[in-house]
Amino acid sequence: LKELSLSLSLSLYIYIYIYIYIYIFALFLLFVTRLYQLSKAGKLCVPAMNVNDSVTKQKFDNLYCCRESILDGLKRTTDVMFGGKQVVVCGYGEVGKGCCAALKAMGSIVYVTEIDPICALQACMDGFRLVKLNEVIRQVDIVITCTGNKNVVVRENLDRMKNGCIVCNMGHSNTEIDVASLRTPELTWERVRSQVDHVIWPDGKRIVLLAEGRLLNLSCSTVPTFVLSITATTQALALIELYNAPEGRYKQDVYLLPKKMDEYVASLHLPTFDAHLTELTDEQAKYLGLNKNGPFKPNYYRRVAVRSL
Ligand SMILES: NC(=O)c1ccc[n+]([C@@H]2O[C@H](COP(=O)([O-])OP(=O)(O)OC[C@H]3O[C@@H](n4cnc5c(N)ncnc54)[C@H](O)[C@@H]3O)[C@@H](O)[C@H]2O)c1
Repeated sequence: LKELSLSLSLSLYIYIYIYIYIYIFALFLLFVTRLYQLSKAGKLCVPAMNVNDSVTKQKFDNLYCCRESILDGLKRTTDVMFGGKQVVVCGYGEVGKGCCAALKAMGSIVYVTEIDPICALQACMDGFRLVKLNEVIRQVDIVITCTGNKNVVVRENLDRMKNGCIVCNMGHSNTEIDVASLRTPELTWERVRSQVDHVIWPDGKRIVLLAEGRLLNLSCSTVPTFVLSITATTQALALIELYNAPEGRYKQDVYLLPKKMDEYVASLHLPTFDAHLTELTDEQAKYLGLNKNGPFKPNYYRRVAVRSL
């Protein structure tokens, strides 16, 4: 009994932590853009660290977390079988790459839409068909948005989807799917279970809308605790850096996490995998012009687009 109550209270703590994380995560995305706006307007009164665009956050939260949670979220809500299903993923950034990789591995036929030729070319080189949404909208079984944009899936697209098509969002807030356009008198909404709505057209066609267009994984699945650990470490280090920094190092502006700290966050998590990192020899460090203890990449080597206004 003692062991049972211990494990129950432990699970309770984990759940509380996950929910707090989800809440903070949603606020986080809004805050970063807002912080840049304040800084631009000269209204930011303290230094701020943009942890959201650090490499460890972008790679692990956006790519690897979504690679796992897209399948989890779809399974929990719809129990869909992925093999042979036709899926269109809108946006081939970090989140889109994670979703596409997971679905491809499960045997789905994956199409990608993109507006950026570089990400579009990456999708092609990774073996996905690059299409416009309206070219495949009639035939796909699942539509997933991951663009950070608004009105990526609009009523016209929803009208043309086939019966039973699943529609969900892994990207920004609830702006990507124009859910408001489905609140019209001729369409009937049927709540089939928590976070799952059938929207029914007059001819009987149904689409399956998940989480009313909000983020699927944050609404319908769990977030891997390993990813939580990486993101939380990044946040904690950013706070320590801001607190300990000597006067004048940071002004009233928004900063990216120093590269060395990003590397430190990653190195703290390597022992989990019993991973053995190679050390530079003195000769190699000199040849590359690096300090043997890092940072190992220049600050501009971010692999990710830095948020712009
Ligand atoms: N679900 C989650 O757990 C989770 C995790 C991290 C980030 N996010 C959110 O997901 C969104 C995407 O994040 P990311 O890191 O992949 O960003 P990203 O900028 O790397 O990728 C977004 C991609 O969408 C493309 N795009 C923009 N408008 C488009 C359109 N109309 N049609 C097709 N493609 C379009 C962009 O060119 C870009 O390549 C963001 O809003 C982010 O906040 C969600």
